[in-house]
Formats: sequence, structure tokens, C-alpha cells
Amino acid sequence: MLTYKALDLTSISNIEKPSPFEMTLPYHDYQFSRRLYKLNHDWGIPTEKEIIFIDSYLKEKPSKVLDIACGGGRHALGLAQMDHLVTGIDIGGYPIKMAIRLARMKSLIAEFIRGDIKVLNFDSIFDLAFFICGQMAHFSPEENKIIFQKAAKALKSNGILIIHLNKFGEDDCVNHNRWYQELKPLYWKNPSLVHREQYFFENDRVKLIRDFAIDSVTQENALYGISEKEYTCEEVMELAEINGLQLIEKYGCYDKSSLSSESRNRIFVFRKGQ
Ligand SMILES: C[S@@+](CC[C@H](N)C(=O)[O-])C[C@H]1O[C@@H](n2cnc3c(N)ncnc32)[C@H](O)[C@@H]1O
Repeated sequence: MLTYKALDLTSISNIEKPSPFEMTLPYHDYQFSRRLYKLNHDWGIPTEKEIIFIDSYLKEKPSKVLDIACGGGRHALGLAQMDHLVTGIDIGGYPIKMAIRLARMKSLIAEFIRGDIKVLNFDSIFDLAFFICGQMAHFSPEENKIIFQKAAKALKSNGILIIHLNKFGEDDCVNHNRWYQELKPLYWKNPSLVHREQYFFENDRVKLIRDFAIDSVTQENALYGISEKEYTCEEVMELAEINGLQLIEKYGCYDKSSLSSESRNRIFVFRKGQ
């Protein structure tokens, strides 16, 4: 049973509704990145299918591959195991440390860099880059303009860019708020009490989650927020086209089944022009 000292919550009830992309999670904070990594480990996303999909666009071994927002490197390491030369970039100190450690343990050659993907600085180096697991949706259209530009520049001519987004479900498109207990805490060291508000901005097709989290032991508390945009196919294609990337294939799943308006996964494959 968690206990909380009497807290004055009038301060949170007076906070104005935020705007889309006004807040971001503290991905750069080492302890936050450690807790996020440990929580993500439980997700059980089918890494192998994703690796096989990515490898199917690589004609030569080794090919040079860029994993954008690589986390703990589960895709990068899988591709390194297939003899590709992979560079993974992530802003989180802990996932990068774990990726380097795993590469050493498995005697794999892979490069992991801690950095912000908005300041990537590669020029015509990679045969393929991928930005998957829906992470693009957490960046605003302005940020994605920069990310696409940097990713396109990092590719050799004829290089491939793979993007994976998710379609919103019914729960994403509503406003609600509730209190809950985080027994595996993300924001603080100890189990926390969280007041979660979800806002849906229909015209921007953006969902914003704002959490007010209180540590049950230290009583530290703060507001955190994350946005997610449901980019349309046209918006993704426009971001790609202005950077010289042509759509070559699109799928509804990593098994290459076709993309329909019902598909929860939306995978786009682009090729950089000459
Ligand atoms: C949901 S995780 C996915 C990680 C990895 N792609 C995977 O599938 O295991 C999202 C990752 O994006 C990273 N991230 C968020 N913003 C970033 C930024 N501006 N630059 C680099 N990495 C970022 C986070 O640190 C986190 O590891």
C-alpha cells in the first residue's frame, strides 16, 4: 500500500491545457532513460520480423545501416549479426550503454552514438536508414522536416529510408483523465501516483498525454508530457519528396502484407534519387 502525505493539488488544477508538442519526455536524462529501457523490455515487439524486413532491402553484405533512435539496439544488433555495419543513434545514455555492452558480449561490430537525431551530421554514408516503432509520430512536423532532411543527407544515392508509423485506435481520439499508481515507475525512482490527462487535438490529429507524477517515498512531483501525431500518408510522402526521396513500397505489416485504411501499422519504404 503506497502512502502519500497530504499534497496540495490546487496547483495542477490551475494548469492550462497544453498545446501539441509543447512538452517532451526527458529522454536525455540518464535515470529516465534507464527506467524507460527497462519498461520497454517488457513490450515484446517482434524484433526478428523487423530485422528480416530491413535486411530484405540490403543487397550486399556488409551494407552500411543507420538506426535512428536505436534505443538499446535490438534491431541494430540483429543486423550486425547478419554481417551489416550498423550505426545506432539515441539520446538516452542508458540504452546506448546497454547496446555497447551487448555488442561486446556478443562480439559484434556495431557503432552506437549518444546524440539527438535532429543534429545528425552524416553525408552520403549509408545504404539504408530506418526510423521505426512509431517514434516519428512523437516529433512535430517542424522537427520531422529536419529529421527527414538529415536522414536523406546521410544516405548514399539509391539509399533506402524505412519509416514505420502506427494508426490511432479509438482510445487515442478522446479526452480523458484519471489517477493511477505506477508500480514500475517511469518518472521517479519509487512507485508513484500519477494523474494522467489525455487531450486529443482533432484538427492536428495529435494526442497529448500530460502526467503529473508524485514519488511515493520522496513526494517529489512534476509534470511530464508527450505528444503523438497521426501523420497521413500524404504528409509522410511530402516530407520525403522535398528531400529527394521517392516512395517505392508501402505495407501494413512487416510480413509485407498490403497497407489498407484499417492497417494499424504503416510502413513506408523510400529510395533516395541520384
Ligand atoms: C520507443 S523507444 C524505441 C527504441 C528502438 N528503436 C527500439 O525499437 O527498441 C524510442 C527511443 O527514441 C529515443 N529518442 C527520443 N527522442 C530522441 C532524439 N531527439 N534523439 C535521439 N533519440 C531519441 C529514446 O531515447 C528512445 O530510446
